[in-house]
Amino acid sequence: MAMLDSGSAGRLSGTARVPGDKSISHRALIVSALAVGESRIDGLLEGEDVLATAAALGALGASVERIGPGRWAVRGAGVGGLAEPDTVLDLGNSGTSARLLLGVLGTHPLTAFLTGDASLRSRPMGRVAEPLRGMGATVAAREGDRLPLMVTGARDPVPIEYTLPVPSAQVKSAILLAALNTPGETTVIEPRPTRDHSELMLRHFGVDIAVAETGGRRAITLRGQPEIEGRAVSVPADISSAAFPGVAALLVPGSEVEIPDVGLNPTRTGLLECLHEMGAGVAIADAAPDRAEPVGGLGFRHPGPGGLRAIEVPAERAPRMIDEYPILAVAAAFAQGTTRMHGLGELRVKESDRLAAIAGGLQAAGVAPAARGAALIVEGAAGRPPGGVTIDAGHDHRIAMAFLVLGLACERPVRVTGSETIDTSFPGFVAAMNGLGAAIAAPDAADG
Ligand code: S3P
Repeated sequence: MAMLDSGSAGRLSGTARVPGDKSISHRALIVSALAVGESRIDGLLEGEDVLATAAALGALGASVERIGPGRWAVRGAGVGGLAEPDTVLDLGNSGTSARLLLGVLGTHPLTAFLTGDASLRSRPMGRVAEPLRGMGATVAAREGDRLPLMVTGARDPVPIEYTLPVPSAQVKSAILLAALNTPGETTVIEPRPTRDHSELMLRHFGVDIAVAETGGRRAITLRGQPEIEGRAVSVPADISSAAFPGVAALLVPGSEVEIPDVGLNPTRTGLLECLHEMGAGVAIADAAPDRAEPVGGLGFRHPGPGGLRAIEVPAERAPRMIDEYPILAVAAAFAQGTTRMHGLGELRVKESDRLAAIAGGLQAAGVAPAARGAALIVEGAAGRPPGGVTIDAGHDHRIAMAFLVLGLACERPVRVTGSETIDTSFPGFVAAMNGLGAAIAAPDAADG
């Protein structure tokens, strides 16, 4: 199991290039695979999660080809045109691959078998299986609707109106992708807006999608069975990955780090609001207006002697920064005062039980956290936490990266085991961090 050590760094400075947005990359591949003709994708994240989606789409009969670094060409099968795979689709660690592809397959009249790694096999799929059954699909899965599972898509799918019981963009996207091959209008209602990359991607491909918003509640209606044609797609850098070098700069005194071309979709920028409230200087360079998704450069500068201050993070913000709690909790460990983060129930069913992993890791590093129900409370160390621990990432890339960032600013180094999982979303993380001046290395290299 790969181990990495992260120790006290001198100031971090320079420009970090962060790979493509994971959510947008999955959607670019999937929607391209359902289009007629060729789509060209630039800036695709070549992390294991997205490669799992690419391989699965290939097994389903689309032509998915890498033509250069981050540059891919996809020849789609047309809406409803995917073919039955002759082997099990293994989606590795990727919940997005499993849930979005389940949606696609839910309205293809074929049978497919899906599985994944130990983490993915423990995650709930019923949240997607249930609405798909309502559309006519058959999903047979292990107890608790977990992988491995078998899906036989509906031959005559029926449109539904579905209110999301959990604020999940993956569930919303699965239904919208199923709706693409369903006659009539399917409506998904989300009581709290979640990331809208699927809506934007489908619209980019010419799909008829209407969004009605009343008092924060969004109703998304898709008219199904269109012909869609291949398009060019440009994927911005992932704000969820940028968060790691960005927050590192806020914790290591004297640091100043820039990250260009970051996706700044407002459904993803909750962390920036938190950091602003904590007194951090995060500069946002002008967003490029002509892209399908809002994009801009981010500049992170250490806030100076007073450091960060604790904040109260409301539950309403959770869907807009759901993947950023591990790194926000690390930032909170250095802040003055007690930070309270509310409405985090969904963190229990991510790549790991993130509430438990964050609280356990911080506690081991000498910080005082508490996970109470769906809330996470972190007492800032008002200075450098002790560190000097080994933390198991538990198949969770964001837990691994968050604790490696913690190690850069603690009194003693932090060792993370199971760090290979970082490749699922941020291949090149160690090189990007060390390029800024961090010292993250495998124990042998560090010892030698
Ligand atoms: C994602 C949505 C989020 C997020 C995941 C990617 C997506 O999950 O945690 O990393 O691409 O739609 P949920 O929608 O289940 O909260």
